[in-house]
Amino acid sequence: MLRLAVLVSGSGTNLQAILDGCRDGQIPAQVVVVISDRTRALALERARQAGVSAVVVRRRDHADQQGFDQALSKACAAAGVDLVVYAGFMRVVGSHFLEHWQGRCINVHPSLLPAFPGLDAPAQALAYGVRITGCTVHFMDAGVDTGPIILQEAVPVEADDTPERLHERIQHAEWRILPEAIRLFAAGRLRLEGRRVQIANEG
Ligand code: GAR
Repeated sequence: MLRLAVLVSGSGTNLQAILDGCRDGQIPAQVVVVISDRTRALALERARQAGVSAVVVRRRDHADQQGFDQALSKACAAAGVDLVVYAGFMRVVGSHFLEHWQGRCINVHPSLLPAFPGLDAPAQALAYGVRITGCTVHFMDAGVDTGPIILQEAVPVEADDTPERLHERIQHAEWRILPEAIRLFAAGRLRLEGRRVQIANEG
């Protein structure tokens, strides 16, 4: 069974979707460790509720990005992880982490990339005035939200949207495409060809 590390910073609703999917047999995988950079992340409580080991790795406890990367990488390796999932982990990934995990590390982002990378993507989309935004699951690379795209789902913007309301609808889409991307990875159906991710047919 595929062994997952889920990296979180906040409320952990994506983590919950993954935990539920694993529990119900929708995702043939097991969350073996949840890693947070914040001691008070609600996501840590969700991990404990599910009986999953929860670890805090704070940036401020490390002198530089390299030290932080190495601590993250060590926590994943110690748990025998096959795939690292950034699920609302609000930290950049450094080259020392990627050296080990590139191709085995995915991220969910609340926009249709390459539009609106970085922080506050739903607010960026509203401010720009797009009619359609959404979410993206992609492999991590050294850029900010630039890696090869695995899945996307569109979400229409409504006239009276606030960033919070729009983000909430985007998150419902995230809870579908993030578990689905993990399922595809677990089934060995994702193949990277340059920037493009090919999804092999089932069976
Ligand atoms: C998610 O919407 C995720 O896409 C976003 O943080 C939220 C975390 O929610 N990530 C980013 O913006 C990364 N650039 P959650 O903690 O409830 O899963």
